[in-house]
Amino acid sequence: MATHLRSVSSPSAEEFDPLDDMSLPGWLYHDPEFFEAEQRAFLKSAPQLVCHESDIAQPGEWRSLDYLGESVVVIRGDDGAARAFGNVCRHRGSRLVDGTGGCAKVLTCPYHAWSYARDGRLIGVPHRREYPSLRPDELGLVPVPLEAWHGFLFVTLQPGAPSVAQMMAPYEEEVALYRFAELRAIGRVTLRPRPLNWKTIADNYSDHLHIPVGHPGLSRLFGRNYAIEAQDHVDRMEGELVEQDSDNPSERAYQRYLPAVDHLPPSHRRKWLYYKLFPNVAFDIYPDQVDFMQFIPVSATETVIREISYALPDAPDYPWRREMKVARYLNWRINRRVNAEDTELIARVQLGMQSQSYVAGPLGTSEVCLRSFAQKLRRLIPEARLGSPPPAGWSKRAS
Ligand code: FES
Ligand SMILES: [Fe+2]
Repeated sequence: MATHLRSVSSPSAEEFDPLDDMSLPGWLYHDPEFFEAEQRAFLKSAPQLVCHESDIAQPGEWRSLDYLGESVVVIRGDDGAARAFGNVCRHRGSRLVDGTGGCAKVLTCPYHAWSYARDGRLIGVPHRREYPSLRPDELGLVPVPLEAWHGFLFVTLQPGAPSVAQMMAPYEEEVALYRFAELRAIGRVTLRPRPLNWKTIADNYSDHLHIPVGHPGLSRLFGRNYAIEAQDHVDRMEGELVEQDSDNPSERAYQRYLPAVDHLPPSHRRKWLYYKLFPNVAFDIYPDQVDFMQFIPVSATETVIREISYALPDAPDYPWRREMKVARYLNWRINRRVNAEDTELIARVQLGMQSQSYVAGPLGTSEVCLRSFAQKLRRLIPEARLGSPPPAGWSKRAS
């Protein structure tokens, strides 16, 4: 299957690097010290999606995200504003709320019952007279920077990364077509733990050469119409549904019965579009729904794939028309298969990365996304240039 591709990363005036034609070395995919270096260099500062505005439409509704040892809660205030806070009580440091979401009039700590208003203010301290010097106005929940982007709410644990709006700027017009701000969740958050380095999953997301080999269904759906490109902070992939009927029943039914989505221009009505934001956040954008996905690193060899599905209501009083529900069901059947195929493929890659017989492999000229990612990592963490890990303790000495 031929693919179209282009790299639109700014090459700047950098000289040719002999490593440009090579993938990242295998040790980066399982080394605990490299994982520490990644956290410091870019993982902690990477914007992470918590939820959509509509998930917390009412005052008191909240969602949480666990990321790199921190827990963040995003809650709607009585004034209608969404705010993000560290999910940590200011008294003895207890985790404040449990689970992925809920609705609360006040957030009450389960340890000694300090309570916080929906805007984070400390409003209740049992045995108040025991703390004569306590200044409640200084002990509100600790705010976390929050970015609203087309209705999606992102938090960042540390400064240093471009905002989602900056990263996605090259695609602003295309994103606007999909009316993200009007999306509604069509399921719960799913968390799928995987015994893999986060990069094994993220690389595969932008790897186009495995599609004709590992995904017969996608090959039938897209034929030669699969294209990739790499911007500075975003990879974009797209597949255009072919006219020729697939011989697979779910795929054929999807091709035939996918309804025309009126608000999309003809160029996007039969397109599957994928964006991956550096380093670990992705959107799968179909005419029938939008799946949000992030690859949450847990350790050098463990990752949780966090996923939420959204769709655009057809009308306020009739949110999901029947033919769209059918298209979504078929989409789910097709992608369930694709996911199973990818799960098997990436497990094999992770084994190879951990083998002493693998160092690094060549990258083809068309592999613009993998090239751009490898170059970025080498720039951010120079040890990524080495074929084997430096002596133990390198990541601490480097910081
Ligand atoms: S730790 Fe939260 S009230 Fe004491
Ligand atoms: Fe795949």
